Amino acid sequence: MNLRDMKIVVTGAAQGMGAHFARRLAEAGAQVAAGDVNEAGLKELPAGVHTRKLNVADEADCGAFIAWAHQTLGGVNGLINNAGILRDGLLVKKDKTTGAIQKLSAEQWNAVLAVNLTGATFMVRELVAKMAETNQRPGVIVNMSSLARYGNRGQSNYVAAKAALAANTVTWAREFAGFGVRVGAIAPGMIETPMTQGMNQKARDALVAAVPVGRVGTPEDIWQAVKFVIECDYFNGRCIDVDGGLAM
Ligand SMILES: NC(=O)c1ccc[n+]([C@@H]2O[C@H](COP(=O)([O-])OP(=O)(O)OC[C@H]3O[C@@H](n4cnc5c(N)ncnc54)[C@H](O)[C@@H]3O)[C@@H](O)[C@H]2O)c1
Repeated sequence: MNLRDMKIVVTGAAQGMGAHFARRLAEAGAQVAAGDVNEAGLKELPAGVHTRKLNVADEADCGAFIAWAHQTLGGVNGLINNAGILRDGLLVKKDKTTGAIQKLSAEQWNAVLAVNLTGATFMVRELVAKMAETNQRPGVIVNMSSLARYGNRGQSNYVAAKAALAANTVTWAREFAGFGVRVGAIAPGMIETPMTQGMNQKARDALVAAVPVGRVGTPEDIWQAVKFVIECDYFNGRCIDVDGGLAM
């Protein structure tokens, strides 16, 4: 699809990659509906980007946001399913000094699944339902998975969500073919955003040292993949790892 023809929803658009995607899309002539729980961050987006508060963990809000985007943009034909959170922790941990056993809390597990998997799924459901209801086609969805989809220590919750999102990219590409909607996913490695800026320096240095291209990725590196998924009408049902070679 041509970027100029996109009427596209971007979730988690208040900062980091989502904000970058919303800016790049608007610059390219797309009509953009940007949502986030962080309303203050949304205000920093350029004037041409339409914004509204969105909590993807709230099922009703997913539907309300898509209805608003449809009305505001005069239709919807795309989604960058980008909102995400971390609540890292080992599933089971034994304290070295006291020997006490700590478990990953249900709150940590549920919070990540609610945003990164259930929320992302309901955004897909609502977008495609609206497109089907209004006979709008073609369309494209870009799911933000992660390199964590292959498994990562201390991230059971995040891994479960991101692996499921990559797998359901195949499910949805098959289910939505009849609606003219393609579905792709991108699995970034370590990207410089507020999400990774909080990492401790030692862990960060070790990760960077393991990246064959020798640096952290930028939102622009990931935008190039997003752009490809939108523009290449023969791309469907696959997840692209953009990780500087980290997962080889
Ligand atoms: N930064 C990385 O290294 C990296 C790597 C792989 C995958 N990812 C994924 O890419 C996506 C973007 O990551 P980022 O690094 O820009 O993160 P970020 O934390 O900088 O931005 C995420 C945005 O999502 C928003 N958000 C959180 N919960 C929400 C909710 N319930 N409803 C709506 N919005 C919500 C936040 O307010 C924030 O603006 C995420 O899905 C993340 O898991 C990031």
